[in-house]
Amino acid sequence: MAGKEPLVYIDGEFRSKGNAKVSVYDHGLLYGDGVFEGIRCYNGIVFRLREHIDRFYEGLKVTRINVPYNKEDMVNAVVETVKRNSYTDAYIRLIVTRGRGNLGLDPRSCARPSIIIMAEPVAPAHGKEAREKGVTAIISGYRRDMVDGTTHELKSLNYIQSVLAKFQAIDAGADEVLMLDHRGMVSEFHGSNVFMVKRGVVNTPTSAAGILHGITRMRVLKLAEELGHEVHERDITPYELLTSDEVFLTGTMAEVVPVVRMNGVAIGDGVPGPMTKEIIIAFQRTTRNPKEGVPIDQVVPLQTRTGK
Ligand SMILES: Cc1ncc(COP(=O)(O)O)c(C=O)c1O
Repeated sequence: MAGKEPLVYIDGEFRSKGNAKVSVYDHGLLYGDGVFEGIRCYNGIVFRLREHIDRFYEGLKVTRINVPYNKEDMVNAVVETVKRNSYTDAYIRLIVTRGRGNLGLDPRSCARPSIIIMAEPVAPAHGKEAREKGVTAIISGYRRDMVDGTTHELKSLNYIQSVLAKFQAIDAGADEVLMLDHRGMVSEFHGSNVFMVKRGVVNTPTSAAGILHGITRMRVLKLAEELGHEVHERDITPYELLTSDEVFLTGTMAEVVPVVRMNGVAIGDGVPGPMTKEIIIAFQRTTRNPKEGVPIDQVVPLQTRTGK
């Protein structure tokens, strides 16, 4: 595909990136009224695609966006987008917006939702070097919302808090920014989940801390158990985090990345710790296992399935 523009799926059609457009009256743009997923394809396997689709449909249910696709159709459309672009490794963005409506926020003015799928060969955030050396972070003054439907439990198109927090990291010269929840407990990074290793135990905040229920987080929790480690989902104070032995982040965009300094304080010895390194290697192995996702050559082509 060298030199060729990526093809973007919009409502059943493929358009070149330059022509992939939605209306300025789409409530996704006007109100952040929509839901999305970030997914990765590794070596022809769309990693944990069914889990992403399940989370996506949960978000659609809560936001009451009715798409004319069932989950299998959606799996199909995602896979077809990767195939049409001839990618084996790609970052995939799946979006459903409320659709075109009038200028009032009443969602009932939007006749039908829009389904958009993009795929591009985007390398993991922070790059390979970060996996070996680790990244720095600050703790944001912004707090994740209470668990009342507007937290990142719902992966909606409203990421403004994370964007503002990212500016704090940029201003401070840090790579990452961690958010606390409304109680002051550790929640998550602006676009990834957080883990802490303390005295050999792997810990991560619970869903009560306003986190996105990360697909990578779930897999890493299980992976840590498979590696024989004790694992806890529990409240974590910022003090505990700063005085822990190891911290790392997990997410589809970044994968697993060690955090070696927070608020100017070295985490452990200020270098990636042994358990983080072990988990990074195990996670990379996992992403290449066909059983961990949907192999793109095993999915029935879109035309055949949706030729209704
Ligand atoms: C706010 C937030 N938290 C956590 C994550 C990690 O989730 P996942 O592992 O499903 O990519 C993301 C990823 O997009 C995110 O945006």
